[in-house]
Amino acid sequence: MIDPAGGFSRREMLKNSGRAAAAVSAVASISSHVLSGADIPKVHAGEDNTIRVALVGCGGRGTGAAVQALSVDNGPIKLVAMADVFPTKLESSYKNITSQLKKSKSIKGTVDVPEDHRFIGFDGYKQALDLLRPNDVAIFATPPAFRWVHFGEAIKRGINVFMEKPVTVDGPSSRKLLALAEQATQKNLKVGVGLMCRHCDARQKLHDRIKAGEIGDIVLMRAYRQAGPTGSAFCEKMPKDWKDGELLYQIKNFHAFLWASGGGYSDFLIHNIDECCWMKDAWPIKAEASGGRHYREGYIDQNFDTYSVMYTFADGTKMQLEGRTMPGCKLEFASYAHGSKGSAVISTSGHTPAKCRIYKGQNMTEENLAWSAEPNEPNPYQLEWNHLIGAIRSDKPYNEAKRGTEASLVTAMGRMAAHTGKVITWDDMLNCEHEFAPNVDKLTMKGPAPIVADKDGRYPLPQPGLKSKTEY
Ligand SMILES: NC(=O)c1ccc[n+]([C@@H]2O[C@H](COP(=O)([O-])OP(=O)(O)OC[C@H]3O[C@@H](n4cnc5c(N)ncnc54)[C@H](O)[C@@H]3O)[C@@H](O)[C@H]2O)c1
Repeated sequence: MIDPAGGFSRREMLKNSGRAAAAVSAVASISSHVLSGADIPKVHAGEDNTIRVALVGCGGRGTGAAVQALSVDNGPIKLVAMADVFPTKLESSYKNITSQLKKSKSIKGTVDVPEDHRFIGFDGYKQALDLLRPNDVAIFATPPAFRWVHFGEAIKRGINVFMEKPVTVDGPSSRKLLALAEQATQKNLKVGVGLMCRHCDARQKLHDRIKAGEIGDIVLMRAYRQAGPTGSAFCEKMPKDWKDGELLYQIKNFHAFLWASGGGYSDFLIHNIDECCWMKDAWPIKAEASGGRHYREGYIDQNFDTYSVMYTFADGTKMQLEGRTMPGCKLEFASYAHGSKGSAVISTSGHTPAKCRIYKGQNMTEENLAWSAEPNEPNPYQLEWNHLIGAIRSDKPYNEAKRGTEASLVTAMGRMAAHTGKVITWDDMLNCEHEFAPNVDKLTMKGPAPIVADKDGRYPLPQPGLKSKTEY
């Protein structure tokens, strides 16, 4: 049975992280309140209950995640190590984090990352993890290709993890992650995956109402991520004066290369796919799709710029995904559910605020509005950290790795269906033998890239119908 809800109740997590926060601050202030024993972290005199954080992948998201980690206010927390493959990225992330700390009084965590705790290179993650102990947290916010390598090492060392989505890019990496997810559970490690919409209060309330039958049985979901060129998905030929080699060029432009990111479809659409599947409480069993490249002569990336994917669930329910990265067209970034009695907006315009709503019938008009989420939604990027650190401090089961892998796999199913022109089932994707970068754990700064440009500086593209067993 495929269960996208994962192995823990979010409601319980909310309760526990709230309790843990209260417990820690109460202990810290030597409050005279009597606290209920079971959920209180045991802090003995002289014991260091500081959670240490290492950041691996110091780009935009890693920097944001580190600040959110340091903003969890339920006990001492400190950034102690950083690792990246580009020194400039690491240094600008360090500056960004420290300046945010200076500006914001609400960030109670601290930063202690001297020069010799900043590591550059593909092995930097190991040196960063050397500075952590069990019960500390590693943040993995590199492109997803490296997830299984970094996660595997953290598990070996008994370190908790926050890792960004997607967590896998193909069948083999998904199988590895599923095995690692199980090992993490065996070791009672706490693992957060950056599908933060699952931590959104408004979506949680919508989910409760859908479960209570307010829109009847879901028969169709549809989601859109239609924008102009996004991230590094549109990538030009490596410039002649680029000094860092082909591998680092690909890493810098990771949305362009399927081995690194799963491409734009995997990176950009996974949130919409995941939030829809959550509302349905199931994963789809197959995907069929079309897509193509238009006006892309100058670009060497491996993406299509339109993806139109129809997923089917075991009960026949459909989920339609529309992805487009094309300037001058209609823009939309939203997810919807249609039920036998009514309809719902799962997200309105981007990730947050979700502005979830329920409508009577299928016309989403003002007169038909039956419920809408309260305004001023708390930021789910912060909530996901409150929940993870709450679980660590109260030692509650918390592992989102299996669910995060399943969301990544479902996303890859749709992408592969578009790239091959074939119907791709859950089992096809899971058992697919095409591993985009089997040597990703052995890459070196001067070594070759997993995929090499032809004499014109171009890379193989998907060819639906012509190439149907692999995506390129
Ligand atoms: N949850 C969200 O809403 C959200 C938003 C943005 C990005 N993300 C995810 O976060 C991840 C990073 O995205 P980003 O936008 O921050 O990209 P980015 O390019 O800004 O950052 C990635 C960083 O990782 C570094 N890096 C690459 N390979 C490395 C390795 N092997 N070891 C150490 N460092 C390495 C890069 O040099 C770069 O600094 C992606 O998986 C992306 O999908 C999630």
